[in-house]
Amino acid sequence: MNTKFPSKGWIDIHAHILPGVDDGAHDWDEAITLLKLAYGQGIRHIIATPHFTCNQDTGLLQESCTCLDYHAKAIADGFGVSLGQEIKYFENLIEYLNQGRALTLAGSRYVLVEFEPSDSLGRMKRAVRQLIQASYFPVIAHVERYRCLFEQERVQELVEYGAYLQINSRSLNGGWMDKKARWCKKNLKKGTIHFIATDMHNSSDRSPDIQTAVSWVEHNMGVRTSDRITRTNPGFILQDRLL
Ligand SMILES: [Fe+2]
Repeated sequence: MNTKFPSKGWIDIHAHILPGVDDGAHDWDEAITLLKLAYGQGIRHIIATPHFTCNQDTGLLQESCTCLDYHAKAIADGFGVSLGQEIKYFENLIEYLNQGRALTLAGSRYVLVEFEPSDSLGRMKRAVRQLIQASYFPVIAHVERYRCLFEQERVQELVEYGAYLQINSRSLNGGWMDKKARWCKKNLKKGTIHFIATDMHNSSDRSPDIQTAVSWVEHNMGVRTSDRITRTNPGFILQDRLL
């Protein structure tokens, strides 16, 4: 088994926790605070996913991630951090991935890709097709944000095309009147969601709150389903195995 795979707890595949590189943690103090909050939520491995930008020094990102992993292990044995990126889709993405100028999740074949909220289903399907043809596995970030997927058949179509879908844990926190929360819960029940992740940015309004979502899934769909979405499926990424 991959040494990154924790013996228990959740695995968070989407986190803006590396300090000073994007709109996530500002500095090391905030990054370490986020680590502690995540640990308190039951998270035992984090894939740090700073936003991709052109000409980013991926070596520096790796150094920062190694340092954060050291801090995680100071909090508890078995707590760790790997490196990835959240990449807004662009036409030359495959070239960047092949050259190591854009990063996959934890060195696997899985790529966390995001789109503009107004992007079309056609653009998403083109991205998914390109990635799969190049032997990458696309994970669509915070899939609840895209207007073209509000119709159920389109979500199913994207999954059948080969995409894996991730929702943000905090999107589940709204009640029945909250359209986004309702959409997430409906899709979880239909089995079209593969990952719940925090998309943490800070310790206030975008903190690593995952327990509320886990409790909802456990209560409504059972512990096995909850484990699959927050631990087993993310574990496939850490082990670079096909879901
Ligand atoms: Fe993100």
